[in-house]
Amino acid sequence: MIERWRLQEEMVQKRQGVVWKVGSNVGRSGYFKFATKEQAYYSGPLIANEWIAAKLATRLGLPSAELQLATVVGPDGIAHTGVVSVSVQANEVVLWRQLPEEIRLHAKRHIKHVDLLRMVVVFDAWITNIDRAAGKNMILYRNSPDEAYDWYLIDHGLTLHGSPHKWERHKWDEPYWQKLWQFYHVSEGMARLTRRSSYLEPMIAKIEALGDEELAHLVNDVPHIVCSEAERAFILRLLTERKGQIRSIMRKWLAYKGEKEYKRK
Ligand SMILES: Nc1ncnc2c1ncn2[C@@H]1O[C@H](COP(=O)(O)OP(=O)(O)O)[C@@H](O)[C@H]1O
Ligand SMILES: [Mg+2]
Repeated sequence: MIERWRLQEEMVQKRQGVVWKVGSNVGRSGYFKFATKEQAYYSGPLIANEWIAAKLATRLGLPSAELQLATVVGPDGIAHTGVVSVSVQANEVVLWRQLPEEIRLHAKRHIKHVDLLRMVVVFDAWITNIDRAAGKNMILYRNSPDEAYDWYLIDHGLTLHGSPHKWERHKWDEPYWQKLWQFYHVSEGMARLTRRSSYLEPMIAKIEALGDEELAHLVNDVPHIVCSEAERAFILRLLTERKGQIRSIMRKWLAYKGEKEYKRK
């Protein structure tokens, strides 16, 4: 059976797109994202980025939100096609940035799968994610205050192809994108979780081991209504090139002595 989604609340209305809170016929909730015609230039293949990044995360063993392609009718009666990021159902669901400092400082005690959490930086480096730093795009959840938090990743709209503006200042194959600290900071409290190469190595090895054919298959699996042939080709090229560079990108990043962590203003 196909799950059907209905608008509950209009959340954000930004240049790059719209996010609506939605509910389904089986009682689940989620966040629906789509680009209108007027926003299409800015948002680019926003949904394709989301879709492909989530597939890659799953393939690499990183938890990420379940995505569903959906058509949702807006307040004006017009149906829009986009993607629902399905929300977990738990008593407490928070963003990384909402965690008390105490929890972030003792992540190993309070958060599950810290071994995977450490390696999110490698994944983000590979897919040129420019939107994780502020701690808005990682969800933590638990059912009671004496449990450790479990977590998953959300919002990969600005990874991969990103918006058309993403490559204006620095083309995708320029040295800029090899210097992770220039386009990415780990979220608050995560620098200490990521400071050793042994923490990152398993993810580097996993990415390197992805076959070109499998990668092509993963990228081409995106619903074609959300992504043109040219966009898919670009995304595949980016991923294939950076797969071969990920080890050196992470080596440079580990050796870099400057600020690598996001600081709240
Ligand atoms: N799967 C999800 N589970 C819980 N919260 C979510 C989920 N997807 C989105 N959200 C919430 O909706 C907000 C906006 O979604 P996001 O995909 O980050 O869009 P954008 O940053 O482009 O507005 C997030 O910051 C988060 O609070
Ligand atoms: Mg976001």
